[in-house]
Formats: sequence, C-alpha cells, structure tokens
Amino acid sequence: MGSLFNPSLNKVSQSSSSYVSNRSTSSQSVERQQKLTSENTIGASPERDPRSKPEKGSFDIFRTTNVGLPKLNKPLHVLNKEKKKDFERFKNAPEPQYLRSGMVLLKKFINTADQVKVLNKCRELGIGSGGFYRPGYSNGTKLHLQMMCLGKDWDPDSKLYKDSRLFDDVVPPEIPGEFKILVDGALHTAHNFLRRSSRSVEEIPNMSPDVCIVNFYDNSGKLGLHQDIDESRESLAKELPVVSFSVGDSAEFLYGDVRDADKAGKVILDSGDVLIFGGKSRLIFHGVASIKPNTAPAFLINETAVRPGRLNLTFRQV
Ligand code: SIN
Ligand code: MN
Repeated sequence: MGSLFNPSLNKVSQSSSSYVSNRSTSSQSVERQQKLTSENTIGASPERDPRSKPEKGSFDIFRTTNVGLPKLNKPLHVLNKEKKKDFERFKNAPEPQYLRSGMVLLKKFINTADQVKVLNKCRELGIGSGGFYRPGYSNGTKLHLQMMCLGKDWDPDSKLYKDSRLFDDVVPPEIPGEFKILVDGALHTAHNFLRRSSRSVEEIPNMSPDVCIVNFYDNSGKLGLHQDIDESRESLAKELPVVSFSVGDSAEFLYGDVRDADKAGKVILDSGDVLIFGGKSRLIFHGVASIKPNTAPAFLINETAVRPGRLNLTFRQV
C-alpha cells in the first residue's frame, strides 16, 4: 500500500546485500520517490479529528436497510434476463491491455460467480474481528475509504506491516485460498499475454501474496496519488507486482511517473477487472480519482446486498 507521509526511508536506504548493486537504479529511485512523497497523505480528508485511532465498530459492505435504493425484488424473468446478459458479457474476456512495461490490465478477468464469492467473503470477514475500519493518520485526518487487511496488517500512519493491528492488537484474517488461486490465474494470464505479444514474461515477476489490503469506497470515495513503497526492501528490489481486483462500481484510476494528476494516465477499472503493476511499473504513482455511481453489474446487485460503491483488493508479497 502506498506511502505518502512519514515514509520509512530506513527500509531502502540500509543497503548492502548483493541485489542492491544489481538493482541500484531501482533502490535509488525508491529513495528519491520516497523523498518526493514525504509531506502528503493518501486522499486524506481535510477535516481534523483529535483522535488518532480509527473509528470504532466494523463496517458492513452490505446494506443494512433498503431505504433510498432501487427496487430490489425484481420479477424472475427480469433477473434471468440480466443474469444471462452478465454471463455473456463475462464469458469471453477481451484481450488484456498493455498499459506500459510491467503494467497489464485484464479486463473482465473475474467471472460473475467469483465476483459474488469475493464480495460475500469480504463481507463475512469485514464484519468480523479484524474487519473494516476507517483508517486515518495521527494528525487526525481520515482516508476516504474503509479498509481491512488480510494476512498481515498494514498501518497507513506508521507505514508498517505487522502481524497484528496497532490500534486493537487483533491478528488479521488469513487470505482466503480462493483469492490466492485467482491471483495465480491472473499472473498466469498476464504472462501468457506477454508471451503472445512477443514481450518478455520477466516484465512482470511472479509472486505469491502474503498480504491483501481490501478497500471499500462509497460513491464519494477516492485515494490520492501515491506509491506503494512500504513493502520489504527485497520485495521492492525484485519489483514484485501488486495485483489489484475491482468489484462493484467502476473507478477512474490514475497512474504515472510523477505525483501530478494532470500528467497521469487514466483508465477505468470495472467490476471483474484485474490490474497488475510490477517490474518497471512497480513504483508508479497511482490513485483513484472517483467512483462512478450505478455502474456495478446487475448480477452483483441482484445476488448480494452490496452497498453502492467499489471493493478493491490489492495483493502483494511483502
Ligand atoms: C491502492 O492503491 O491501494 C488501491 C487502488 C485501487 O483502489 O484501485
Ligand atoms: Mn496503492
């Protein structure tokens, strides 16, 4: 996950192992980029809150009431028609998109049934111990999203990965095996695509995730441009990719070499898309400019009680 604030420079500046000399460019660039980002927060709210602790009580990504939402009990023939349309839409995933070296977008990679499974599982974990909370910084600002970590905790304020959460000492749930299978499949698909397009599979190194950061954005959610640089020195030096799943409403995703939204590339991440950035793109600045309301596919609304908004899962080997 990204670091904009209080970056942990020590991780990359303590150098001596052999890969540093091989990868000195990458190491130096981490250090340089960390300095560049040092005075910022990730899409943090300007409102001041004297508490440094996250808000209490877990957040349910499923609706607890139907007030103000579209009619939910649609006639069966309408549900079946929508289901068929969605199924057709996801049956044949389009060719992946090559965004830049090390960065590939797998459109519609997660099929309808798996998207429902991901949502249900995140809902179940999210309301349990170690579930969703609204993170913030010790200066009182809050991020515009709800977050939950799986595998290990990542704390946006200290920028540290730990076995248990700093604010309540809870050990995060494991990453579900089904999620890891999807990550594996996505990397495999990206590698096959690189091969087919006569590029080197080494553009995207392989990885086996030990942390997943799950974010839920409501329709006003966003995340400022940042780099993911809190992973271990080894992970960053090997340029191990971040694999990102999107489920629910679509998002406008920005990415680029500098922390400047005007210079950033823009891509829409729809439900079921998987974005991979590793190799030469591992340290890109990236963020979520906006969530597009009412863009989630009908099957998700019909088959789950998901709130309006977007779920994002980023997997990494830290
Ligand atoms: C992140 O950078 O941590 C999340 C990106 C996203 O929501 O797509
Ligand atoms: Mn990030």
